[in-house]
Amino acid sequence: MVNSFHIPVLTKEILSYLNIEKGGVYIDCTLGGGGHSKAILENIYPYSLVVGIDQDIEAIETAKEELKRYIDKVRLVKGNFKNLEGILSDLKIKTVSGIVFDLGVSFHQLKEKERGFSFKEDSHLDMRMDLTQKFNADILINSYSEKDLTEIFEKYGEERFSRRIARLIVTERKKKAITTTKQLADLVVRSLPRTKKRRTWKIHPATRVFQAIRIEVNQELKALESGLSQAIRALKDNGRICVISYHSLEDRIVKHLFKETEKEGKEQKNYGLKIITKKPIRPSSEEVRDNPKARSAKLRVAEKIISVT
Ligand SMILES: C[S@@+](CC[C@H](N)C(=O)[O-])C[C@H]1O[C@@H](n2cnc3c(N)ncnc32)[C@H](O)[C@@H]1O
Repeated sequence: MVNSFHIPVLTKEILSYLNIEKGGVYIDCTLGGGGHSKAILENIYPYSLVVGIDQDIEAIETAKEELKRYIDKVRLVKGNFKNLEGILSDLKIKTVSGIVFDLGVSFHQLKEKERGFSFKEDSHLDMRMDLTQKFNADILINSYSEKDLTEIFEKYGEERFSRRIARLIVTERKKKAITTTKQLADLVVRSLPRTKKRRTWKIHPATRVFQAIRIEVNQELKALESGLSQAIRALKDNGRICVISYHSLEDRIVKHLFKETEKEGKEQKNYGLKIITKKPIRPSSEEVRDNPKARSAKLRVAEKIISVT
């Protein structure tokens, strides 16, 4: 079941870096199909708990099935990790031994046509991880100003042709609303300079624009900044945080926050972090061979240090 929903990435490494102890409570902030949670539960069951959080109800339902053997020691929460402190407080959990973030979208979200994340299939422009949210990619593309579109393509997609793409979107949507993934992907190609239109791309030219829209629709980077800070606060002394990111914007936030917290700790604040992975851990060539979607994964790990002054 989990294999068709999502193949967990860097699982062995996560288990080893988390320093799993039988009595410790662990939080999986990005439950997905439950792959990482299951690996942790196999090591701590029946001594303590895993809390699995996901904003996608389809992930919660899949994980419930996947983790049913351990269900008395699992708390599944449909929610956003940007509300981590509230979620833990509702569960009456004060501190935890380890926290995992495996960012981005699951294979299930990417491949389910009607979720509208992929331009490989033609479907409605949606891209919401949380299906109860109103704001989606269709609303974004048909309502943002040319300036705002340019800005998000630049900021979240690092797209060279942001301005040209935004201009064509605004021109075309006056004639007909842009509501499908194919319409949008075709527009991106049309907006490129003639020399870039030849079909010899290594990656499809719409890739960066789709990434940017997904990040904006789900407010991914803001949630990450807030979720990471709350996670560090929730860790007990010597507790560890493991974060897998899939693109440079996410990785930069993780790296920066770890460094800042480490520095603050050294300046005698009441807690800090020890960075365990000086360089991010990458999947082995065997893992990438078996699961090519793992190729861009980067794992960073840090340990909470509470000063005893
Ligand atoms: C890469 S998948 C995780 C896969 C999971 N580790 C596994 O082994 O199956 C990322 C998951 O995180 C969820 N997600 C992303 N951002 C989130 C957020 N801010 N709050 C809660 N869930 C989030 C997505 O809905 C998706 O299911």
